[in-house]
Amino acid sequence: MDQQVFIFDTTLRDGEQVPGCKLNTKEKLELALKLEALGVDVIEAGFPISSPGDFESVTQISRAIKTATVCGLSRAVQKDIEVAAQALKYAKRPRIHTGIGTSDFHIKSKFNTTKEEILLRAVQAVKWARNFTDDVEFYAEDAGRTENEYLARVIEAVIAAGATVVNIPDTTGYCLPDQYGEKIAFLKNNVSNIDKAVISCHCHNDLGLATANSIAGVVSGARQIECTINGLGERAGNTSLEEVVMVIKQHKHLGLFTNIQSKMLNPLSREVSDIMRVPVQPNKAIVGANAFSHSSGIHQDGFLKDSLTYEIINPEEVGADGSKIVLTARSGRSALAYRFQKIGYEFTRNDIDVLYDAFLKVADKIKEVEEADLHALAKAYKPENITA
Ligand code: KIV
Ligand code: ZN
Repeated sequence: MDQQVFIFDTTLRDGEQVPGCKLNTKEKLELALKLEALGVDVIEAGFPISSPGDFESVTQISRAIKTATVCGLSRAVQKDIEVAAQALKYAKRPRIHTGIGTSDFHIKSKFNTTKEEILLRAVQAVKWARNFTDDVEFYAEDAGRTENEYLARVIEAVIAAGATVVNIPDTTGYCLPDQYGEKIAFLKNNVSNIDKAVISCHCHNDLGLATANSIAGVVSGARQIECTINGLGERAGNTSLEEVVMVIKQHKHLGLFTNIQSKMLNPLSREVSDIMRVPVQPNKAIVGANAFSHSSGIHQDGFLKDSLTYEIINPEEVGADGSKIVLTARSGRSALAYRFQKIGYEFTRNDIDVLYDAFLKVADKIKEVEEADLHALAKAYKPENITA
């Protein structure tokens, strides 16, 4: 039987950390409700101790969300954890997400301490959090650059202390997919109590590998992915929710599924882009404006004969407007005939041959040939035959 991968959305926390993306409580609440409708399993609503505004947002989201788990971030600091617990007081399913850096960069440069001390602080933080909720997620910040033996010791200790989810962040987006996958496999094979917790992937996109790394993680046995709409997040961003969800959906042989309503992906992507004022790059997978556009003659011809030749996803399945045949100087005759037909002109093959030469002259001068240009071309050609 297929196994579920839990989708942990952190658009409202890691995504909102992006400069210029800050949201007010009303906006955060509105998005949280949409994320719940989308089917995410966990909504990371914010970092309650970071500001009174974020505390209020987490409180209101906790009150409003009915089925998803609501999660609040904290450092491995008692006050942080208490404040997170307070903000989550009304949540039907509260989760405290606490943790500490485990790589040498964090231990030596950031904390100026020892591995043993970090391990004790990690365990203590989980115990504090367990006083407030049974659902405690521990993050080993910069796990991507933490040596596996030490990481395994920390993870075993925090699970023994009560962590129910263990987050293995590639905080700096450094890992290659095989390295990240091996790290998860190492934990599966070397942490004696690993079956008592869900392993979570939290990958950043500094080398453009966040999606590949998260998928390598679930292939190796992780069962939660932390991600954001449009891949928003610190620096180059986080794993993009729409990408991992569709990878899992397209590759059925992985034996995995998520509860995401994929038809909502495009509308929600647009909403997040508008509210956070970050445009989506046109060539972005799944939700970019060109994700279902075909512009070269070779592709257009194949697509028009059978859409599966050049499209692996039906645009309807992800709520996109539909496939587009875009006319440029690289387009071919079948695309031109198709576009003429769409606006009501029935031309013969011979007509199209003649019109194609005229079309290329126009197309070479402009970036894209639009509907108005097609009407002009048609009018200039045998006007007595035109039916549109
Ligand atoms: O990237 C990271 O390590 C984080 C943690 C706080 C989970 O965002
Ligand atoms: Zn992060």
